[in-house]
Amino acid sequence: MDVSQKQDLNINTASEKHESNVRSYCRNFPDIFLRAKGSILYSQSGKEYIDFLAGAGALNYGHNNDFIKQKVMSYLDTDGVAHGLDLYTSAKEKFLATFNELVIKSKQLNYKIHFCGPTGTNAVEAALKLARKVTKRPGIFSFMGAYHGMTLGSLSISGNLGVKAGAIGTLNNVTFMPYPYGFMEQFDTIEFIDFVLKDCNSGIEKPAAIIFETVQAEGGIVVAPVNWIQRLRNLCHQHEILLICDDIQVGCGRTGPFFSFERAGIVPDMVVLSKSISGYGFPMSLLLINPDLDIWEPGEHTGTFRGNQLAFVAGTAALEYRQINNLEQDVKIKEFLLRNFLNEEIASISEKIKVRGLGMIWGIDVADCGGSVFAKQITSRCFELGLIVERVGRNDTVIKILPPLTIEVPILQKGCSIIKQAFEEIFNQ
Ligand SMILES: Cc1ncc(COP(=O)(O)O)c(C=O)c1O
Repeated sequence: MDVSQKQDLNINTASEKHESNVRSYCRNFPDIFLRAKGSILYSQSGKEYIDFLAGAGALNYGHNNDFIKQKVMSYLDTDGVAHGLDLYTSAKEKFLATFNELVIKSKQLNYKIHFCGPTGTNAVEAALKLARKVTKRPGIFSFMGAYHGMTLGSLSISGNLGVKAGAIGTLNNVTFMPYPYGFMEQFDTIEFIDFVLKDCNSGIEKPAAIIFETVQAEGGIVVAPVNWIQRLRNLCHQHEILLICDDIQVGCGRTGPFFSFERAGIVPDMVVLSKSISGYGFPMSLLLINPDLDIWEPGEHTGTFRGNQLAFVAGTAALEYRQINNLEQDVKIKEFLLRNFLNEEIASISEKIKVRGLGMIWGIDVADCGGSVFAKQITSRCFELGLIVERVGRNDTVIKILPPLTIEVPILQKGCSIIKQAFEEIFNQ
């Protein structure tokens, strides 16, 4: 999201009158939404939209998923605890048991679970704070193109200079390393980091942690190669630096397996999850911690909304739903469909158009083919035709395809055909 690109399409809403200028997505999708089911949003005017935005990754199981909804409704019906700070509750007990059984144990992992404040950025803050506490080092290495959230610590490790501009003078102790993207793909970025760490004259101190995304989502759908992820893991071992994987957007099955780093067979020291972990769009975030690193004092990273009870109920149901419906396999089928569509029907329009992605997160990069103006024309036309799809990457030049994992194949195909129509119309103008 590029702040400079946001402008109202003005539909005279109370939000336009009263809501702060900071509002964002609504400017690009100007309609008033009434209800939503599965992969479709219904507006007040009666128009239907296919949702390829999926709450920016918070709706992997679709809107108002019946299986999850029914569990939430019955919990509310029995007056289950709706807010419980971090008290032991039946909802939390069940979530922890299910998460441990279906995710941690089944993958032979070993993590303690820290429930953080409700949004992803709070779990990122916790990870940074804990890494610094464990290692007693102030520095963090992050990657160019990264996005980790909007609070000061998370912003300090994010690449987008536009969104960082307002935080004048507060974003310290971070060094950005090159991610394997664009020109850097021809450059051994891991060797570079290794060189920097070994060079006693580099001017850069050994950091507490390196934080990374296996797929930079907001950064423009840049997929890190498996070998790069494995070498990053080894590098962190060699230099005794903690490795934090931010799986907020591409975890929870977005790339197929539950964790996005599984494709590289690595185990990070800490993992940050949020967005679809609650399964229903409820706010929830958590930090997975290698038990040896769990040196928090009681209450050291606490908060009033740490542990959203409805999110526990929905999150438990989501994990069961994922298992019952073999969502991992389903993602493979839809990945095949998306890959073919993008390569055969979109990339073939011009060699200047690049497509990237895996699982059910894909990007159409038009930076060399009309850039941000062209990208904006495409997504606006898609919206007119009944498809919600956003732009990410440098100057918002990448069209991001992020449907719910549960989208029905005919709806997925219809969304794709809208993208194709928009490309054909605008490309031939
Ligand atoms: C990879 C990544 N990390 C962190 C965040 C921040 O999460 P939140 O917006 O819930 O604070 C996001 C949000 O888009 C994200 O994509």
